[in-house]
Amino acid sequence: MQRVKNETDTCVVLVAHNFAAVRRIPLKQYLNAVSDSKLFTSKGVAIVSGAAHGIGRQIALKLARDGYTLVLNDIDDLGSVIGETRALGSTAIPVQGDITLPTTIKALTDTIEGLKLPVSGLVNCVYRNDRAPFLDLSDENWLGTWETTFFSAVRTCRAIIPFMLLHRGGSIVNISSVHAVGSGERDFHAYDSAKAALNALTRSLAVEFGPEGIRVNDIMPGMIVVERNEEWWTSHAKEFEASAAAHALKRPGKPEEVAEAVSFLLSDAASFITGASIPVDGGLTAVLSDTTALTLAKARAAC
Ligand SMILES: NC(=O)c1ccc[n+]([C@@H]2O[C@H](COP(=O)([O-])OP(=O)(O)OC[C@H]3O[C@@H](n4cnc5c(N)ncnc54)[C@H](O)[C@@H]3O)[C@@H](O)[C@H]2O)c1
Repeated sequence: MQRVKNETDTCVVLVAHNFAAVRRIPLKQYLNAVSDSKLFTSKGVAIVSGAAHGIGRQIALKLARDGYTLVLNDIDDLGSVIGETRALGSTAIPVQGDITLPTTIKALTDTIEGLKLPVSGLVNCVYRNDRAPFLDLSDENWLGTWETTFFSAVRTCRAIIPFMLLHRGGSIVNISSVHAVGSGERDFHAYDSAKAALNALTRSLAVEFGPEGIRVNDIMPGMIVVERNEEWWTSHAKEFEASAAAHALKRPGKPEEVAEAVSFLLSDAASFITGASIPVDGGLTAVLSDTTALTLAKARAAC
C-alpha cells in the first residue's frame, strides 16, 4: 500500500456511480476509502505455515493462482514452493524457521509490515504427532505435539489478527483433522487432543472476532496421500486398501482437494461461514457415524 508522506497531498476522484461529479479530496482519505471498500485488485496477503510440503504446499499453489501475495513459512527449505508460486504470478516471500519459535513469528510480522498490504488470510497447517501407547507418552511427547499442532496456531493468530483488525476483515483457516472428532487409530492421544483443542480455538476466535469481520474456520481432512506418507502407503497395500475403503468415496484424498476448500473459505464466497469445522474427508466421518449408529442399534436390539 502506498504511504502518504504529506498530509496535505490531494487527489482528484470521480464521485458517484455514473462518474457525474469530480472532486478533490485529501489523498489519505482516498487511500483509506479504497482500502475499506476492498477495491484493491490484489487479494491481499495470505500467510501459510507448513508450506514446503504436502497439503500446505498445495494450498500455497492454489492461493497463488487465486491472486494472493503470499508469505510462506516452513522449517524446511522453501525454495521449490517459492519458485512454483512465483511462476504462477504470485509475489511469494519465504520465512523459513520453526513456527513454534518467537523469532519466526517476529520474522513473519516484520515481513508483513514491510509489505504494506491488507492481510486477508492465514492458514495454519503445521503439525507434530508423537505416537505411543498412553502410558509410554512422556511430557516431552505431549508438549512437543501440542506446541506444534496447537500452540503454533495460537501464536500466529495472536500475531496476525492485529493486521486483520486494521481493515476489519480477514479469514483464518486452521488445518485440523478427522482425529479431532474420532480416535479410530491407536496411539494418537497427543495429536487427537491437540486437534480437538484447535477446533475449540477456531470456535472461540470466531465468536470474539466475528464482530470485527474476521472469520475463523477449520478443515478436518481425512486420509490424504502426500509425499511424506506416499512411500509408506505404497509398501503397506493392505492397510492402504482398508483405509481407503473406510471412506464413503472409497479412496483417499489429494492435497489439492484440501487446498480447494481452503481457497473457498478464504474467499468472499464463504462470507457467512465462521466457527465451522468442515470435514474434507471423502465421507470418512459420515461412515464412522453410520457404523456407530449401527453398533448402537444392534446393542439396543440385544437388550
Ligand atoms: N496427510 C493426511 O492424511 C492428513 C490428514 C488429516 C490432517 N492432516 C493435517 O494436514 C496438515 C498438513 O499435513 P501434511 O500431511 O501435509 O504433512 P507434511 O508433513 O507433508 O507437511 C507438514 C509441513 O509442516 C512443516 N512443519 C512441521 N513442523 C514445523 C514447524 N515447527 N515449523 C514450521 N514448519 C513445520 C513440515 O516441514 C512440512 O513441510 C497437518 O496439520 C496435518 O495434521 C493431514
